[in-house]
Amino acid sequence: MNYKNQIAQDLHSVIGEHLSEQEIYQFIEVPKDSKHGDYAFPVFSLAKIFRKAPNQIAEDLINNIPTTNYEEITAVGGYINFFLRKELVSETVLETVLTQEEHYGDAEIGENRNVPIDMSSPNIAKPMSMGHLRSTVIGNSLSMILDKVGFNTIRINHIGDWGTQFGKLIVAYKKWGSEEAVKDNPIEELLKLYVQFHEEAEEDPELEVQGRLWFKKLEDADPEAVALWEWFKEESLKEFQQVYDILNITFDSTNGESFYNDKMDPIIEELENQSLLISDKGADIVDLSAYDLNPALIKKSDGATLYITRDLAAAEYRINNYDFAESLYVVGNEQSDHFKQLKAVLKEMGYDWSEDIKHIPFGLITSGGKKLSTRKGNVILLEEVLQQAIKETKGNIEEKNPELENKDEVARQVGVGAVVFHDLKNDRMNTFDFNIDEVIQFEGETGPYIQYTRSRCISMLKKAGWSMPEDVNHLSLNDVDSWEVIKALNNFPEKVVEAYNKYEPSVLAKYLIDLSQKFNKYYSKVKILDDDSQKEARLALVYSVSVVIKEGLRLLGIESPDMM
Ligand code: ARG
Repeated sequence: MNYKNQIAQDLHSVIGEHLSEQEIYQFIEVPKDSKHGDYAFPVFSLAKIFRKAPNQIAEDLINNIPTTNYEEITAVGGYINFFLRKELVSETVLETVLTQEEHYGDAEIGENRNVPIDMSSPNIAKPMSMGHLRSTVIGNSLSMILDKVGFNTIRINHIGDWGTQFGKLIVAYKKWGSEEAVKDNPIEELLKLYVQFHEEAEEDPELEVQGRLWFKKLEDADPEAVALWEWFKEESLKEFQQVYDILNITFDSTNGESFYNDKMDPIIEELENQSLLISDKGADIVDLSAYDLNPALIKKSDGATLYITRDLAAAEYRINNYDFAESLYVVGNEQSDHFKQLKAVLKEMGYDWSEDIKHIPFGLITSGGKKLSTRKGNVILLEEVLQQAIKETKGNIEEKNPELENKDEVARQVGVGAVVFHDLKNDRMNTFDFNIDEVIQFEGETGPYIQYTRSRCISMLKKAGWSMPEDVNHLSLNDVDSWEVIKALNNFPEKVVEAYNKYEPSVLAKYLIDLSQKFNKYYSKVKILDDDSQKEARLALVYSVSVVIKEGLRLLGIESPDMM
């Protein structure tokens, strides 16, 4: 229930046409201190209309507001404070969560329309770094959130498996590589070759020329180039898959850049037909000065295509195949110009669906204050971070709870939970310097803390022998200690919608910290298992918290072990 709506309605009935219900809604606040009510409405904006002192206005208004919905309404310091009826609210919340369980908070905003989400999208022949973790976990969470509000998401891993860099890699491999070394340690060896290429190319520019030549050969399906490329790709995908397995993340499509190699001609032709393609020193470009953007380079002078050429073909493929309501790209903020160009070119072509293309950027992770760079070998290996988190979790379990069943699986769920939550708890545009000790933490505002709060609920319910009551509509609580928890539970559906509107998983991450802290406070003050008339309602509250935490964590892509 959105009680703000009810308050806005009740206020509107006494304020009249001076303010619309929606305007009133915007003014309603949640007071920092609950002594000032659950919601408050500042009357200052009415002073001009009623020509009275604010508190007089507040006093006058509260005499006329219908009281049925509230325990108390007070006028203090120019605010009208509303105290909801705890019994009524708790009864509604508990009944709703108990009947809807994991569907609590579902919405129908999406009306089943399609939303492709471009996420993860690492580059082959390179290790998947912490940078790609962000795209993977933010994209994964957004797809859960959008599905929850009624969209049908399509998770696309747009693998970077095409482009000049593969020409360079082929040159490096042919010059300095060995089949055995690559077979033994594919990504490490390929990365070495790639780094070496760039070092040597600084001295010997001829290498760059050869690199471009070999990429051209690849685009023209030269058998030697294709065979090497396929081999590099296969080895890379195997390693990526290990990371996805640890994270427990799947995709609906892994059509990468190479998939569009034979699909770029139509869009290039269309650009030509519309006279949008301009020749510039032998290369083909689209002028975007009207958008205050650099020209989009569509084809190099040797005929080779570019990253944006493939993205144009991919965008067209997605509208044709998915008829999307919106099309999301979860990609680092440093690519924002690229996506502006992509949208601008499509707009120039007259496609109104270009408006529905949305770049969802996120902030950069640095290491030791420096930008991560595969080329310079400054990388953080995602798989190593995850493995270390899992190892430390396992150590904790051995120490504190050696009898636990499924130790390895729980260690994975909790270790991954720590890494993923650390990434999602801040606004996605936040930048941060990578610090492994900060990432792998179990106490404070962390994923494991939330998982632990839920496992505490589960063990309490077990101890009480709790099972779903047949009649769930007469469970109510009216004490102040449970009240904060009840209100937090009531907020969950609103938070889901807010996370969708802002494309911001951190809204839910912060919500879960808040809910867990409030519940733990409740737990430390109230004897939940005491045999008295409210026990059943208290246990229903505990169960509701466990349901909402599990569902909230699921929306972040984090699992919830029952015991840990
Ligand atoms: N492979 C690219 C990179 O690692 C990201 C691709 C993002 N998706 C896209 N459709 N451009 O930088």
